[in-house]
Amino acid sequence: MEDNKKVIFSAVQPSGNITLGNYLGAIKNWVDLQNDHHCCYSIVDEHSITVRQNPQELKKRTLDLLKIYIACGIDPEENILFIQSHVPAHAQLAWVLNCYTYTGELSRMTQFKDKSKKHTDNVNAGLYTYPVLMAADILLYQADLVPVGKDQMQHIELTRNIAQRFNGIYGDVFKIPEGFMPKAGAKVMSLAEPTKKMSKSDENPKAYISMLDDFNVIAKKIKSAVTDSEGIIEYRENDDTKAGVNNLLTIMSAVTGRSIDSIVAEYQSKGYGDFKADVAEAVVEHIRPIRQRYDELSEDKAYLIDIYTKGAERANRIAQRTLNKVYKKIGFIL
Ligand code: TYM
Repeated sequence: MEDNKKVIFSAVQPSGNITLGNYLGAIKNWVDLQNDHHCCYSIVDEHSITVRQNPQELKKRTLDLLKIYIACGIDPEENILFIQSHVPAHAQLAWVLNCYTYTGELSRMTQFKDKSKKHTDNVNAGLYTYPVLMAADILLYQADLVPVGKDQMQHIELTRNIAQRFNGIYGDVFKIPEGFMPKAGAKVMSLAEPTKKMSKSDENPKAYISMLDDFNVIAKKIKSAVTDSEGIIEYRENDDTKAGVNNLLTIMSAVTGRSIDSIVAEYQSKGYGDFKADVAEAVVEHIRPIRQRYDELSEDKAYLIDIYTKGAERANRIAQRTLNKVYKKIGFIL
């Protein structure tokens, strides 16, 4: 990239219903960052097959995610929006980096431990080496910044370690990236079990808000969110009793841009019923214009194909440059 703008890479897996957690933890930040950075935002379909996917659903979700990116306000002309499997360099670099990553490092990854407990019948090698593919995603674009939610920070730390290890042997091949989390919403919790992260693959649909849920369903889910019996609206960090209220305050703060303190002050003498109704309204009003744009995009498949085709061309050019550099360094004949 010719100017001084920093480079951003980030991605979401098309593995389930995109949630409010994905939006507040990642995509909302992408929108805020796009004006003064060069941004590459990918739909990482290769990551999603670490867990069995229905092929038709995977196809649909991949396009849904592209629509969501654009509907949330990411400009597809200014930024590179692409589908991971359209850029072969991701899988190619992942193989190389696998040979520079220790099994001990991969065994320590919290997400691997969690997912292998959840999918005991399919603890495949891809699930284990998935953070290496993620490292390849980031390092191919020489990204400075990776805006993600809190759960991905461990993978970014690993990416840095792999890159530093590789650079230590071959010179400055990779930029060392940094993770970047939002002030509010880096870890949105489950509405049903607020000490657990909100997850798009949760079996209980009441646990998460999908960006594509009907508005009345969203409101219902928030109104029935698990809280506590104290009846006090205040933010108490690290207090599990308050996990539900903390989460609703965080969500309210993230969608309105208001500080948690000012929200707490407003609800000092109000009950959970009023509070939840207002959180529900704030969330619905925030999502409403996104959904309108999303529905419009659903009418225009040719436009979406054009976006991801152009995105892949641009991404391939950048990624291939880094891959060639890596191949040369390690002694592959080009
Ligand atoms: P994924 O698809 O699980 O989640 C996408 C993004 O959403 C964030 N996120 C959350 N943030 C706040 N609260 C939550 N409850 C919540 N749940 C998810 C995630 O932190 C993430 O930023 N491995 C990645 C995808 C990926 C990637 C990459 C990300 C592949 N390659 C390169 C960045 C850079 C993943 O599974 O995210």
